[in-house]
Amino acid sequence: MKKLLMLVVILGLPAGVFASGGHKSCGTVECDPVDVDLSDRASLQRGARIFVNYCLSCHSASYMRYNRMGRDLGISDELVKDNLLFAADKVGDLMKAVMPREDARDWFGVAPPDLSLIARSRKPAWVYTYMRSFYRDNKSPSGWNNTVFAHVAMPHVLYEWQGDQRAVFKKDAHGAEVFERLELERVGTMDKKDYDRAMRDLTNFLVYLGEPAKLVRYELGIYVLIFLAVFLVFAYLLKKEYWKDIH
Ligand code: HEC
Repeated sequence: MKKLLMLVVILGLPAGVFASGGHKSCGTVECDPVDVDLSDRASLQRGARIFVNYCLSCHSASYMRYNRMGRDLGISDELVKDNLLFAADKVGDLMKAVMPREDARDWFGVAPPDLSLIARSRKPAWVYTYMRSFYRDNKSPSGWNNTVFAHVAMPHVLYEWQGDQRAVFKKDAHGAEVFERLELERVGTMDKKDYDRAMRDLTNFLVYLGEPAKLVRYELGIYVLIFLAVFLVFAYLLKKEYWKDIH
């Protein structure tokens, strides 16, 4: 029985380690859970491509170098140079925003924050929900608003993919308007499933960005578990050997 319990603990550990998402609060709405999986390399590569193409123009990830990212995600320096190096000259450069901070502050009123640690400070489910919750709002300067981040200064940079959403409000008992749901007003180039998948890839990448060493740790963790499993067999045989003489 004890042995069985031990086995369950050992085999059950990775499930706990890889579990993520969760229903944390996203402002006035619930966050949608996101399936973060740092062992899904194809997803991380797709996320990196979205990030470099659509986010680096305004946001930096200034703790990361292009070639380190390439190495971690299995992308050669050549491929990084040809496909991902829009905002810099050399693969060894840090991932800095194209737009100078001062200009950004002038245009948006706030400088776009560095996104290196965003998935840790805001949590993955928040980022995932945020990227899917922009809606048209004529009252805001950018023409956009967000249910997760009210009056956000960031425009919806991926609206061509997602399409335009509008917010539907209902009146509560006191006549005040309360948010009810988002509705697609104009379809984009992606359907909901594809857009959600792209945002999951992007979130996955931002989680990696927040803690690149996690990838190394996961790999190491698997070897440790294999070692423990093998060790368990020897420990068991040894125990049997000792007890043989006592019985
Ligand atoms: C046109 C410039 C621009 C682009 C491109 C852009 N952002 Fe932003 N972003 C902003 C600005 C400005 C803010 C600050 C909003 C505020 O504080 O009101 C912001 C805020 C954010 C925040 C919230 C940060 C916080 O305060 O917690 C996240 C997350 C974010 N952006 C992610 C992204 C991602 C992911 C992309 C790429 C798909 C992207 N942004 C592309 C301008 C931009």
